[in-house]
Amino acid sequence: MIVVYASNTGHTKQYAEMLAKELNVSAVPVDKIPGFYRGSDAIFFGWLMAENIMGYKKAKAACNVRCVVGVGMSPEDDEIEQRLREKGKFPPAMPVFYLQGGYDFNKLKGPFKAIMSLKQKEILGRFEGQSEAEKQANPVYRMVTEGYSVVSRERLDKVVAWAKSQR
Ligand SMILES: Cc1cc2nc3c(=O)[nH]c(=O)nc-3n(C[C@H](O)[C@H](O)[C@H](O)COP(=O)(O)O)c2cc1C
Repeated sequence: MIVVYASNTGHTKQYAEMLAKELNVSAVPVDKIPGFYRGSDAIFFGWLMAENIMGYKKAKAACNVRCVVGVGMSPEDDEIEQRLREKGKFPPAMPVFYLQGGYDFNKLKGPFKAIMSLKQKEILGRFEGQSEAEKQANPVYRMVTEGYSVVSRERLDKVVAWAKSQR
């Protein structure tokens, strides 16, 4: 088993490397999978863009993807994994997980900056009428206003448990 990841600003990479360390396997970026890993079983981590798990097609072309993990800025909720599954058209038996990661506008480049400057206005609109304390208690508010990450080992628990159950 290896861990393969597609990360734009580093949060997905952090989760991928955390899992790889825990399993004592390698973590490799999807654009630089060494030839000797071709065809290997892989757990794939991809960052979310408009609820698409980026990089999955490339990972699938190179490796036997056994599990898919999407990393976004939205809070974890009961339906997001199902939405990602439908949008990504993953095989029914494929485990699909979602993890909240982080977001920092200053780390974005070119078109991503343009898209997100509009999107951020919409996101901030959702906080209208909330007190400063309520806003600060929400990681998404902090992500958009100052750049913030909730990447943590605890959030990765469900993926670690799945990976260890496969041994
Ligand atoms: C263009 C763009 C679209 C995004 N769309 C979503 C989205 O649909 N859902 C979500 O939860 N996060 C979305 N995000 C936030 C990223 O998925 C989030 O910041 C993630 O942690 C980035 O991982 P990375 O640091 O590995 O690139 C979007 C970010 C960008 C730049």
